Amino acid sequence: AAVTTTKYFMPRLLGPFCAQYPGIDIALEVVNRDRLLERLARNQDDLYVMGVPPEGLDIEREPFMDNPLVVLAPASHPLARRKRIRFPELANEPFIVRERGSGTRLTIERAFQERNVPLKIRVELGSNEAIKQAVAGGLGLALLSQSTLSHDPSQSEVSILNVEGFPIKRSWYVVRPRDKQPSVVANAFLEFLRTHVQLLTPRS
Ligand code: PGA
Repeated sequence: AAVTTTKYFMPRLLGPFCAQYPGIDIALEVVNRDRLLERLARNQDDLYVMGVPPEGLDIEREPFMDNPLVVLAPASHPLARRKRIRFPELANEPFIVRERGSGTRLTIERAFQERNVPLKIRVELGSNEAIKQAVAGGLGLALLSQSTLSHDPSQSEVSILNVEGFPIKRSWYVVRPRDKQPSVVANAFLEFLRTHVQLLTPRS
């Protein structure tokens, strides 16, 4: 199972994985972080891929790829032309945010809280795609994983802002319960993930 934002790269791995192991049946659940944690608590899946592993659970976590968080604005926004934006300047801007329960939302709320800057939420949308379109349409700014920007033709309508301290450096993790003996298939997938990460990073 993998969080929503991984839909930009995790499915890419399935083709080459199944080509290498044609006898294996696979299933990939794509849900937000809260739903993923419920599945983890119920021990429903072999492996979990997420950006913000839970604290206080007996899990193994392995970072496998960078997951930078960037600030997006409409390309026509005055801040898009600025070289170095101070984070407190974002207090004046309306933000489009993911739903509660999303790892992205959690990270944004923490980022503003840690910097003591109020977060002005204009609207909440349950999809990264919808958020990018809303930013392009001028509704506000957004903080999203850079993973959401790969392979996207509408990207030129949004700009990544040059904000001090950004991109926030994070990782994508593969997580599993420590006490669960991984299946042979789960181990094969994990090894495949480790050795094929280059398939997941967008080509420029
Ligand atoms: P999300 O998770 O898709 O639920 O926002 C992303 C993340 O954990 O970074």
